[in-house]
Amino acid sequence: MKKARIGVVGAGGIGAAAHLPAVTGLPDDAELVAIVDLDEQRRTDAGEKFGCSNLYADLGVMLEEQKPDIVVIATPPHLHEPLAIQALRGGALVFCEKPLTGSLESADRIRAAEVETGQWCVTVSQFRYAGGSRQVRDSLRSGRWGRPLIGVAHTSWYRGPEYWDIPWRGKFATEFAGATTTQAHHAIDLLLWLMGGEWSSVSAIADTLSRPIEVEDASVATVRFADGALATLLSTVLSHHQETKLQVMAERATVDLDTLYMPLLEEWSVRQVDAEGTTQVVADWAEPEEPVQAHRAQLADIIAHWRAGEQPELTIAEARSTLEFLTALYKSSHTGVPVSRGEIVAGDPFYSVLDAGGPTRKASR
Ligand SMILES: NC(=O)c1ccc[n+]([C@@H]2O[C@H](COP(=O)([O-])OP(=O)(O)OC[C@H]3O[C@@H](n4cnc5c(N)ncnc54)[C@H](O)[C@@H]3O)[C@@H](O)[C@H]2O)c1
Repeated sequence: MKKARIGVVGAGGIGAAAHLPAVTGLPDDAELVAIVDLDEQRRTDAGEKFGCSNLYADLGVMLEEQKPDIVVIATPPHLHEPLAIQALRGGALVFCEKPLTGSLESADRIRAAEVETGQWCVTVSQFRYAGGSRQVRDSLRSGRWGRPLIGVAHTSWYRGPEYWDIPWRGKFATEFAGATTTQAHHAIDLLLWLMGGEWSSVSAIADTLSRPIEVEDASVATVRFADGALATLLSTVLSHHQETKLQVMAERATVDLDTLYMPLLEEWSVRQVDAEGTTQVVADWAEPEEPVQAHRAQLADIIAHWRAGEQPELTIAEARSTLEFLTALYKSSHTGVPVSRGEIVAGDPFYSVLDAGGPTRKASR
């Protein structure tokens, strides 16, 4: 079978920890043909560690010389749009880290480049590919547990002040937004997906309570779904008790996930109340699974679609829904009223800037 020739742009934190091992961990499906990083030491170290001698400081030169099938983008967020569009125009399918980009307007420009080139730009959402997630999604979709009624997603992480020593972090210009978009993105995207994705409105407060940063370090939100279901969200980097908790209360069962950074099948649990009114843990709700490295699992899925000439999951149209949700959350925090799906369009300041209200947050408190 034809291997996908893959170039990785950004050999920093997540590039070196997840994307490069994901590519080299699929020896039958993928070939690492290039590493691009502005930092010479990083690309040299990554080249040695992952057995790649085609090292570049510039994506354009790499595209010209290597003509990769897939380009992975693992750079700071403000570079996602220009690099993604450049790679699409260079003839590659793009696999881009989250957050996809800094505004709906920017997402629409990437979508236009998808249409122009006939290529796809896929956003990383590794929680959807992590242990158990698909089995929970399939069970919820099948109606086995009845309709989802209430969802909960708490991302309670801790980041000490030194986390923001990396210059692009914490600033609107380069990170776009804070805990809700950077850290809680995984749990929020997973919850919206499990609930069916059809959110209809969100009310929220986002604020910078403690850290010396521009972007928010905490937010709370309530969500209404098109079918009437509800959800609550907590997203923060201020919790000394670090955990990611997800819950879906459906008509005939409640599903819980207790994890931190990477869900495993055994971290999911399902409970049902029996005829006597006693809560019972359901033992046999899932098939056994091999543990997965979720970035690799998503990449393998992209390669399978690429080979088949089919549209993969999480291209711009789908990833835009989560970006629109996050934008609506920030807009609600700014305006103090619920924001409906579809209301943020061209001409709205939040169409052009993810957290357009952020810079005035401190002043208005
Ligand atoms: N999915 C996840 O679990 C996860 C985890 C961490 C970070 N991220 C996301 O991944 C992205 C990168 O985060 P990070 O923590 O790895 O950042 P980082 O700063 O550690 O690494 C970024 C790398 O990109 C390189 N770079 C910058 N500009 C470049 C350019 N024009 N061309 C080539 N290389 C360039 C830098 O030199 C650096 O090595 C962010 O969007 C972040 O939100 C995702």
